[in-house]
Amino acid sequence: MKSLKDFYDDTAEQWAELWYKNETMLPVLQEFLNCFLKKPIILDLCCGTGYESMRLKGLGAEVIGIDFSEKSIDIAKKKNKDICFFVEDIFNDYSYIGKVDGVVFLAGLVHISENQIYKVVENLDKVLKKDGFILISSKIGNGLMQTKRIVEGIEYERPFYGYTIQQVTNYLSNDYSLIKVIDGEPDWFNIILKKKG
Ligand SMILES: C[S@@+](CC[C@H](N)C(=O)[O-])C[C@H]1O[C@@H](n2cnc3c(N)ncnc32)[C@H](O)[C@@H]1O
Repeated sequence: MKSLKDFYDDTAEQWAELWYKNETMLPVLQEFLNCFLKKPIILDLCCGTGYESMRLKGLGAEVIGIDFSEKSIDIAKKKNKDICFFVEDIFNDYSYIGKVDGVVFLAGLVHISENQIYKVVENLDKVLKKDGFILISSKIGNGLMQTKRIVEGIEYERPFYGYTIQQVTNYLSNDYSLIKVIDGEPDWFNIILKKKG
């Protein structure tokens, strides 16, 4: 069976085709950027082909994008010459990017199991400044919802997890406070958390 990374490499063009023109997340991104008093540096974690990075930049932020899919990052770079993108696994240390004021983690948590969350947060914590903000958008649910996906007859590993807002805020409660829940798509939540000073 092919891996999750293969899935995003092989389908990168379709995601770009679908989402560069879909502005569903724009009001949520705007509300997130309203948290900052001056032009922030935002890390787009699991940025895919860079469509939300593009929107964040358009709304006035400096943006850095990270994703482990080379094909996705190739597209992101071609479409956004003024944004820095890195091919990186979020389970690796990426503190070489420097410090950021905010992190958006949009539909990335869906591929992270409960017992892996601490590692993602540990890495994210190294780059996010004190008093910084995180926007998390994720599927509402209770645990593993899917394990694989078949595209054009090819089977891919694609674990997909649902969480509740309560679960996510509990995982992060030592270092982060929930400050806002933003309405979004049905079955998805958008939350903003603030890193404790
Ligand atoms: C559902 S897509 C979300 C893309 C985009 N953030 C959005 O909101 O539409 C999940 C993304 O997470 C990336 N991803 C999954 N696991 C990853 C990992 N361990 N490290 C880096 N990127 C990962 C995939 O390559 C894919 O681009």
